[in-house]
Amino acid sequence: MTNNNSLITFILLAIAVKALAGDDDQCFGSINNAAAGIPSQLWSTDLRSSGAPLPTNAFWLNYVLQDGSQPEYIHPYSIRFKQGLVSLCYPKRLLQPTAVIQVHTDDLSISCKEEPGTAFAVSAFDDLSVTLASQGRRLTVPLVRGSPYVTFLFRGGTPLLSTINAVINVTSNPDATKHKILFNSGQTWLLYSSSPLPISIDATTSSFALRADARPFTGTIRAAVLTDPASEPTLDTYSQCYATRGTVEFPAPFTMQHKYTTAGGAGELLLLSLPMHRSILQQAGGTGTNAARGMPSLTYNSIDGQMEGVVGSTWTLRAGGANVSWHSPRGLRADPAASHEISAALQRDVDDLPGVIVNSSTYFFGKAAARAARLALIAEEVARPDLTGRIAATLRSSLAQWLDSNHAVNPNMSNSIGYDRQWGGLVSSDGAADSGADFGLGMYNDHHFHWGYFVYAGAVLARMDPEWGSQHRCQLYSLVSDYMQHGTSQHNSGSAARYPRLRHFDHWLMHSWAAGLKNFADGRNQESTSEAVNSYYAASLLGSAFHDAALAELGVTLVAFETHAAQSLWHVPLGSELYEAEFVARNRMIGVLWANKRDTALWFGPPEWLEVRLGIQVLPVTPVTEVLFSDTGFAREVVEWASADMDSRPEASDGWKGFVFALQASYDPATALHHARQLKEFDDGNSASNLLWWIHTRAANPERL
Ligand SMILES: *[C@@H]1O[C@H](CO)[C@@H](O)[C@H](O)[C@H]1NC(C)=O
Ligand SMILES: *[C@@H]1O[C@H](CO)[C@@H](O)[C@H](O)[C@H]1NC(C)=O
Ligand SMILES: *[C@@H]1O[C@H](CO)[C@@H](O)[C@H](O)[C@H]1NC(C)=O
Repeated sequence: MTNNNSLITFILLAIAVKALAGDDDQCFGSINNAAAGIPSQLWSTDLRSSGAPLPTNAFWLNYVLQDGSQPEYIHPYSIRFKQGLVSLCYPKRLLQPTAVIQVHTDDLSISCKEEPGTAFAVSAFDDLSVTLASQGRRLTVPLVRGSPYVTFLFRGGTPLLSTINAVINVTSNPDATKHKILFNSGQTWLLYSSSPLPISIDATTSSFALRADARPFTGTIRAAVLTDPASEPTLDTYSQCYATRGTVEFPAPFTMQHKYTTAGGAGELLLLSLPMHRSILQQAGGTGTNAARGMPSLTYNSIDGQMEGVVGSTWTLRAGGANVSWHSPRGLRADPAASHEISAALQRDVDDLPGVIVNSSTYFFGKAAARAARLALIAEEVARPDLTGRIAATLRSSLAQWLDSNHAVNPNMSNSIGYDRQWGGLVSSDGAADSGADFGLGMYNDHHFHWGYFVYAGAVLARMDPEWGSQHRCQLYSLVSDYMQHGTSQHNSGSAARYPRLRHFDHWLMHSWAAGLKNFADGRNQESTSEAVNSYYAASLLGSAFHDAALAELGVTLVAFETHAAQSLWHVPLGSELYEAEFVARNRMIGVLWANKRDTALWFGPPEWLEVRLGIQVLPVTPVTEVLFSDTGFAREVVEWASADMDSRPEASDGWKGFVFALQASYDPATALHHARQLKEFDDGNSASNLLWWIHTRAANPERL
């Protein structure tokens, strides 16, 4: 090879390296993640070559997966990019026997004549918005959560309009900057343009076509469905100011601030809120600030409840948080018999602990390690310091397999953790080689669940054994950064360059999505809210273990928001007005919650397995469980629902029943205790001592049973 060739090779290599995300992780080796592959062309070239880690669970991920043509629900519209058309839908909601769904139809499509069939690539994103641009960049579409208008930015492109509906009528204002279009579906859409844009029914083709002024246009077109004739003046008033960006900060514990950057000139920003926003939105008293103020007269439907107008470009949301630490907040009831019962169970559970937890699955290993860590904290609560050394030894050798790649403790261990430089994340070698292994960990599915358990176990051991903690701080901080990176961390410098911001958390819906790099017709999804809560709780404990107040605070803050969303959307109390009465009558808990679907089925079980549907929203039982199920009235409703036919179904195992009895303990500890004592088996993340500890620490528990 000549010198010139090696120079060229060097330059090409330098370009190839730059195209990868961030620096290497500081304590895990790198891994080639074949399961995730490389980012598609549906990410703009700029984003692909920026070197910044790309999001893997964002609300708009369908737009960059496969051919990008699956719609995503950007409240209040379902929006699809397909063959050059940007199609808006104000979705219809359908009640099915086992689900509530929203259906996409191409109600109103806008495209650019000069770029027929163009692909739209994601050109920018932030916490609350995503922007797509056509290949020739004549049409850019910034999509902002909760915007009643969808904004189209044309730069020298001729707008084309189409619809699957018949057009009944088009009326325009005198200067042709506002149009009102009535479809035979009954829907009325308003179009606002920043300069005249004559639109008429195209009689030459068919009544299904609209004709815009057939000239290149530079400016803004905004489309909004008119849900109520009385709202038209409101939509007129706020038709100019639009958001181009939206970012989120956590300025104080349990507080989140949404800040929008606006363009378009005159007027204030009008957005829409969900009921779950309004219950915690700090409304501005006066005027003259950017702070949000409600406009209840403007309403839109959504699967997450009725939306209402909010004016202002800064939203402050404050969740009713609780700062739960290592132990049960109120401690054990003052009864020596209770302490004795837990202590005896604990002795048995600790005696049964293996020297090394052997399981090559990241999920099941994590659960088992966190279960062992719980035993140590329970030992502290029942004053059995004699047991903690044995538990710490098991945790040390078990975690060594993953954190130190120590094969001496288990020569058969084949799975390991590595850093994927392409996407910026920690994956398992099994998950990287096989997209189905480790529940899709290589595809960035469920990272918070799996690593959350590791972080819980690591935090507990670091607290018990500070020397071990300082030796493994790097690994633990990398694991937590993988799913909860937010800005710079004093203990993991450069983590923002190595991991995407809050990988799973959706700042607008205030809960996490688990789905990873997989396109779905119903959009993103998450099943277990309790495992999501556990991951943020574990992060807060890690912060406590390392005296890192910022990490501890962000952890409890995300616990508070994820809890708020779980209680608002997944928990279905009797009398809920969020879902159809028939659905509410049959369901106390959602199985899998999708952007466009409320599914009563589980990933691993049918809708009829009610105790499983309850259990997957409860496990693991830890001190933070009482925050997630703070409403003991609801706990009673969900337990009565799940236990109705539990004893007549053979597949209702003791392991799952344990979670039903756990919730029962929050309002009737005596009965729960009676049931718990009959159990022969526990879920692999639960134990007899953990369930007894829980029951004997409930607030409803009398001094003596
Ligand atoms: C269209 O709407 C306008 C204004 O409401 C009305 O005057 C006109 O009769 C309508 N045309 C048709 C064809 O319905
Ligand atoms: C890991 O643990 C789970 C749950 O106990 C079990 O079902 C699975 O077979 C174990 N896997 C391995 C590889 O040991
Ligand atoms: C949570 O509790 C810990 C320990 O009691 C305390 O140091 C910390 O400041 C608290 N954090 C919040 C957000 O209240």
